[in-house]
Amino acid sequence: MTCCHERKELHKNYMMKEFYNNFTYPFSDAIENSEVNGETIFLFLDAEMNNDGFAGKKILDVGCGTGNRSIDIARKFPLANIVGIDFSEKSIELANIQKGSMSNIEFICSDFLTYPVEEQYDFVISMGVVHHLPDPLYGVQKMRSFLKDDGVCILWLYHTYGEYDRLLKRQLLSTLLGEKFQDKLASVALLKEMDFHISSNRYGNGYGNYELSDEDALTRDADAFLNPLVTSFDFVAAFRLMQEARMDWCSIFQICYEEKGSFINLDTDNILPWEIDMDMLLKSPRAFSYYKDLDNRSKLHAIEALVKPTGFTVAAGKNRNGELPLLFEQNKIDFI
Ligand SMILES: C[S@@+](CC[C@H](N)C(=O)[O-])C[C@H]1O[C@@H](n2cnc3c(N)ncnc32)[C@H](O)[C@@H]1O
Repeated sequence: MTCCHERKELHKNYMMKEFYNNFTYPFSDAIENSEVNGETIFLFLDAEMNNDGFAGKKILDVGCGTGNRSIDIARKFPLANIVGIDFSEKSIELANIQKGSMSNIEFICSDFLTYPVEEQYDFVISMGVVHHLPDPLYGVQKMRSFLKDDGVCILWLYHTYGEYDRLLKRQLLSTLLGEKFQDKLASVALLKEMDFHISSNRYGNGYGNYELSDEDALTRDADAFLNPLVTSFDFVAAFRLMQEARMDWCSIFQICYEEKGSFINLDTDNILPWEIDMDMLLKSPRAFSYYKDLDNRSKLHAIEALVKPTGFTVAAGKNRNGELPLLFEQNKIDFI
């Protein structure tokens, strides 16, 4: 039984790797000075923490794709050390071309699920990866093992409510294509004929002002509609995932909706920049007064029910003694 289950998981993982060799993400080719936004969260955290540019800190980017986000972080924080890992050979080839002579970043071509844990990191980030894993819980457990004791794991995940229609379109293609869903020529031909596209701003303007080539747009459309494996999470499912992965706390602090990204701030007395404005969105002073009295979990549920996010960012960690940065502290759910 277990053996058969493991073989299936391995096969799914293999399909995923081949998929991202065919459609490298986020870009189809190496580009100069891309502006994939990896640094905003770190700029924010740096200002709240020591303001030392994360000097000497180690950041692991799991499933770094073509490396643009990791490179962006390395460029903005030259005193930090960044490692990007991805199992798509083609993606890592492009990442290495783009990194040029930068010395504070390194790319590893490997399946992170089987990569030995020889080093531990202050931050493990993984954007848009966990929802493509055959076993998301195992993936987060593995990420946890890469964390230092006071390290923080930051994940970006698809949200079930906002992604419902898109994921149904993907299912439609998969149903129509059957086994040909894995065949690049056949699946791309149908994708094009069905005219399914994903807006370049679907999750906010995270890719800067770079004009996407037709190949880049196809890579995004394929990622959205032809991915061999995808799941999505509502906030309760994300808490469960983090708790089962034995994180001690977790904090959902950012959401994407209506083609923009906003911070979440559950402490209504303390204003953060770019935060979601529930007072304005609820359009009712009475509703907002009820909202203000809710506990953190219920506030989060009110937010997701209201705005139907397409994605969100969650931070989690273990054994944290002492204060977390405000962005995490204000939205924290404790598991111990
Ligand atoms: C949607 S892309 C995200 C790329 C990048 N994180 C970003 O946000 O632009 C998902 C990436 O995860 C990688 N990936 C998926 N499973 C992996 C695994 N088990 N080990 C290493 N990389 C993996 C894929 O190859 C792909 O490049």
